[in-house]
Amino acid sequence: MTKAPPPMSLLAELTHRCPLQCPYCSNPLRLDPRAGELDTATWKRVLDEAAAMGVLQVHFSGGEPMARPDLADLVAHAVSLGLYTNLITSGVLLNRETLGALSEAGLDHIQLSFQDADASEGERIGGMAGAQAKKLEAARLIVEEGLPLTLNFVIHRQNAERVPAMLDLAGQLGARRVEIAHTQYYGWGLLNRDALLPDRAQLEATEAAVAAARAHFGTRMAIDFVTPDYYAERPKPCMGGWGQRFLNISPSGKVLPCHAAESIPGLTFPSVKEEALESIWQDSPLFRLYRGTDWMPEPCQSCAFKEDDWGGCRCQALALAGQADATDPVCHRAPAHDRIIQALAKRPATPPAFRYRRYHNAE
Ligand code: FES
Repeated sequence: MTKAPPPMSLLAELTHRCPLQCPYCSNPLRLDPRAGELDTATWKRVLDEAAAMGVLQVHFSGGEPMARPDLADLVAHAVSLGLYTNLITSGVLLNRETLGALSEAGLDHIQLSFQDADASEGERIGGMAGAQAKKLEAARLIVEEGLPLTLNFVIHRQNAERVPAMLDLAGQLGARRVEIAHTQYYGWGLLNRDALLPDRAQLEATEAAVAAARAHFGTRMAIDFVTPDYYAERPKPCMGGWGQRFLNISPSGKVLPCHAAESIPGLTFPSVKEEALESIWQDSPLFRLYRGTDWMPEPCQSCAFKEDDWGGCRCQALALAGQADATDPVCHRAPAHDRIIQALAKRPATPPAFRYRRYHNAE
């Protein structure tokens, strides 16, 4: 049996706890309770195993990873192993003291999320009063500390018109990079799809705003743009291919090929509590299930792009076509592509109320 190359990145979801309630949260609908979270020693052992198997980067995420008091300790451990460390945070728990501890631990980079450039809209979308001022202060402190800062904005029909203001804000705050990323529609995003899905005119306006900002900022600030899947011609190579470049560890220690894999029924999720990371990556039925191209149905199997997009997203195939091993319906050649067309056609003129992601259902 040929060995798979090691993953490049590990997403360490330290907790699902989070003071925000974003309606497009990438965490699963069923959140892990605090009592089931891995302890510090287990996370350190997992980081040891990751470094030994060739992982290069660790992304500390959540929920809100700063809710874990051992975060700086875990960052220091990852740094001691030679791993590149990135913190993905909402910034609402960041202050001079917590940032200082992370900086001293050797943290390499921070990705700070904003829900909007407009404070009241951002706080409505994220479901947290007072969040914007904390985020602005977090950005100021991060830049003052000399840490590279990326801002992340998730775009949807209720904030798309303010993409130019978001790009201006990123420039004013001294971000080196900004991500303008349209919402993905599985998990919470799928639950709230009608409240989030933009129309084509909104998509085109965001594309134009990004092009103008790229011309304006030049090399001073890099801008990444993620198109909404529903308007794409071809599917994205989700996670760089299932089980090929990335692994995700949930707060309770489940090892997943992507953050939404738990939405796929009938799968067994291996745990770092019971098995070594290397053996999960190489040998578990879960990671081998959709790795490579052997599993692909037609038209993927005979498609010239099959090693570019790796068949798209398994979780989206399940959500829209009802089968995780179907061609991603985003592909215009997919048998279930009409599900995308129907979703766009049925998009209501007025967005319904958000269904917020609330942590209390995990406690
Ligand atoms: Fe699971 Fe795309 S999110 S494969």
